[in-house]
Amino acid sequence: MRLPSAAADRLTLLPCYVRGTPPGAVSAKVDLRAKGRNLPAMSRSFPSALVLPATWLLAATLAGGTLRAGWAYAKRAELRHGAELYAIHCANCHGARLEGQPDWQLPGADGTFPAPPHDDSGHTWHHDDAMLTDYIRRGGQAVLDDMGVAMTSGMPAFGEILTEDDIAAILSFIKSNWPDDIRAIQARRNGG
Ligand code: HEC
Repeated sequence: MRLPSAAADRLTLLPCYVRGTPPGAVSAKVDLRAKGRNLPAMSRSFPSALVLPATWLLAATLAGGTLRAGWAYAKRAELRHGAELYAIHCANCHGARLEGQPDWQLPGADGTFPAPPHDDSGHTWHHDDAMLTDYIRRGGQAVLDDMGVAMTSGMPAFGEILTEDDIAAILSFIKSNWPDDIRAIQARRNGG
């Protein structure tokens, strides 16, 4: 049998299957026989040289799983926190289902715009995280004034009420309602 060279190299590292039982496995075999155990042939010849790497692999796999589970748990906790804060501070204007106010694209009698949706039918995803965070922290008016946009904003400032982590959690919750492709487009605006 001809093997590709990478595979052949790997096999030379595992000599048991190619060249027979390595010395380490012999003593294990004798030992098991001495105890009179009736183990299947495969277990008897399982080379001790492989036990350690196999244990490492198992430990690494378990550790990886634990880390992933921990990350998923932290993410779920952040989303729950964000959803609660959204319901308390944002939903009365932007809608409980992120749907925004009716006719949000038309200015009211006083010239101000209603609250836009935060789902993918709105324009929240057109902005990067820095701009969204600034808008929430300092309120719409301060940001629009800085940008030289002559418009009156009905978006209050939350910098005195919400921490940076709170704002990040709300944004995570908002993003979790977007389809994958929209989330990916917005993530690219953050340089991600
Ligand atoms: C009193 C009503 C009101 C509340 C409460 C409110 N907003 Fe707004 N928000 C508005 C209005 C009106 C606009 C549109 C005017 C503008 O863009 O300046 C707006 C605009 C925005 C924008 C910019 C537009 C966009 O979608 O990118 C963001 C981001 C935003 N709000 C997030 C929030 C978050 C998060 C909360 C809760 C912490 C919140 N708002 C609470 C009224 C509100």
